[in-house]
Amino acid sequence: MVPYQHVIVGSGLIGCFLGGIIGQSARVALVGRQTWLARLKAGITLTDYTGGEAPFKASEDQCWSTLPERLDHSVIWLTVKNTALAEVLEQLRPVLGSDCLVVCCQNGLGGATLARQYLPDVSVLQAIVGCNVVWDDTHQRLHKATEGAFYLEQLTGITDQQSAALRMVQHRLLTLCVREDIEAVAWAKLQLNLANSINAIVNQPVRTMLLDRGCRQVIAALMDELLAVTAQLPVRLPKLTRVPANWLPFMLRLPDWLFTRLASAMLHIEPDARSSMWWDLQAGRLTEIDYLNGAVTAQGKLAGVDCPLNDSVIALVKSLETSTLVASRRPLDGNTLKFQLHLK
Ligand SMILES: NC(=O)c1ccc[n+]([C@@H]2O[C@H](COP(=O)([O-])OP(=O)(O)OC[C@H]3O[C@@H](n4cnc5c(N)ncnc54)[C@H](OP(=O)(O)O)[C@@H]3O)[C@@H](O)[C@H]2O)c1
Repeated sequence: MVPYQHVIVGSGLIGCFLGGIIGQSARVALVGRQTWLARLKAGITLTDYTGGEAPFKASEDQCWSTLPERLDHSVIWLTVKNTALAEVLEQLRPVLGSDCLVVCCQNGLGGATLARQYLPDVSVLQAIVGCNVVWDDTHQRLHKATEGAFYLEQLTGITDQQSAALRMVQHRLLTLCVREDIEAVAWAKLQLNLANSINAIVNQPVRTMLLDRGCRQVIAALMDELLAVTAQLPVRLPKLTRVPANWLPFMLRLPDWLFTRLASAMLHIEPDARSSMWWDLQAGRLTEIDYLNGAVTAQGKLAGVDCPLNDSVIALVKSLETSTLVASRRPLDGNTLKFQLHLK
C-alpha cells in the first residue's frame, strides 16, 4: 500500500511545527514563503515548555514555494491564517486529485465550512490547535509555549490507512485528541482567543495585560457575550484550560491578589509574549478579527443575541488596521480601555 504524502500549505508557525512533527515519522512537503523555507532547509528545533525537543531539517525537494500541478493520495494540512484561506482554497481546487484529505487548522469558526464549499468532492476535517507556538530566532527553534492538544474532528467513513496518516501528528511534543464535538472545541478555543484582540489594542505583553484587572474585566465581558450566544446553541463547551469555560469570566474578574494566586498557570508565559493579532497589526497586516470576535457577533445575530462589546472591539481593531500610526502608538492600561469602551 502506498503511504500517504503529507503537504503543509502555509508553512508559518503552526505549519512548520506540524510539518516538523509529521516529518519525524512520515514523508512531508511544505509550501510556504522563502523565509520559512530557508529556516527549514537550514534546520530548526521543535521544543516545548516542558523541555522536550526534536530536530527537523527539510531537504530541498521537501520545500515548495508553490503548489504542484496535481496532488493525489495526500493529506493537506491547511495552516494559512483565515485571511488567506479563500485564496489558498481557490489555488487548491484544480490541484487536488483522488484520495486527498484536507485538514483546516484555523482558529475561529467557519474555516472547514468554507473549505467544504470550495472542495465539495474532498473529505475536509476541522482541527483546532490548542497550544501557542512562537519562533525563537536566536536559537532557530519553534517553541510550543503553552499546554494544549491538537484537536481533530472525528470523521466517519475514512479508511484505516487515512486514519493512520492523520495520526502522524501524534508525538511526545503534541497530543492528538480526536473529537466528535469539534464545533464545541472551536467555540471553547474562540472564547480564549477573545483576549487576542485586547492584547492587540492595549499594546502590552500578554502577561502584563493579564496582570491588569481592567483588561481582564474587558476580556471577561467579551466572554460573557460569547457564552450568551453559545447558551442559545446546541453546544456544550469542553474544558480546554484548568478552569471550566463558564467560570473563566468570574476568574478573570477576581481582584489581582486572588487572581495571581488562583490563576497562576495562566501567568506562566514568557514575559514579552504578544498575541498574533498584535504582531499582525505591527506588521501592517489584516488581522483575523472578523473570524474571531466577528464570528461571535455573526452567530449572535443568528441566535438573536446582541454582542455590543465585541462589536466595539472589532471597530477598534479595524481602525488600528488602517492607522499609519499603529506601530508607534503608546500602550494603554485597562481602565483607559474600559473608559473607551464605555464599560463600567
Ligand atoms: N501561532 C499560534 O500559536 C497559533 C495557535 C493556534 C492556532 N493558530 C491559528 O493557526 C492559523 C495559522 O496561524 P500561524 O500563526 O501559523 O500563521 P503564520 O505564522 O502567519 O503562518 C501562515 C503562513 O502561510 C503563509 N501563506 C499565506 N498565503 C500563502 C499561500 N498562498 N501559499 C503559501 N503560503 C502562504 C503566510 O505568509 P504571509 O505572512 O506572507 O501571508 C505565513 O507564512 C491561524 O488561523 C491562527 O489563528 C495559531
